[in-house]
Amino acid sequence: MATNRTFTMLKPDAVEKGHIGAILEKINASGFRIVALKLTHMTKADAESFYAIHNERPFFGELVEYMTRGPIVAAILEKENAVADFRTLIGATNPADAAEGTIRKLYAASIGENAVHGSDSDENASIEAEFHFAGREQF
Ligand code: RTP
Ligand code: MG
Repeated sequence: MATNRTFTMLKPDAVEKGHIGAILEKINASGFRIVALKLTHMTKADAESFYAIHNERPFFGELVEYMTRGPIVAAILEKENAVADFRTLIGATNPADAAEGTIRKLYAASIGENAVHGSDSDENASIEAEFHFAGREQF
């Protein structure tokens, strides 16, 4: 995958609250092109694998429970400097620390339920995009 792409998920809390449209609109308005998009539901094994880097952390069980309790929206996004710019757009992990106007400031409830995921490196963006999408689903 080119280095101008990142991967995102609108997490179960954002979907439950009806924020899919507003968040996608903000993503588009911020200059990202949607390359792939779907509503999907992660299994426990999916979430454990996707967030394996955190499997020793005390919040891991809660994180897996949260990410599997309802559907998510998965997407691949394209923009110059996509990974860093998207992390700026979503804001800090804890919405209490997130800058005004960021997606987490606007839509997240807590550090555990923070509305949206953004890849943290080009390498992980590529791995995470391949985890969720076949080549024929990417445009
Ligand atoms: P993400 O991977 O989802 O984009 O979030 P992030 O990089 O901002 O934060 P990360 O450290 O990778 O944590 C992954 C997700 O785990 C949940 N979390 N809960 N209760 C807690 O203290 C805690 N800390 C992290 C959040 O859902 C976080 O986004
Ligand atoms: Mg992370």
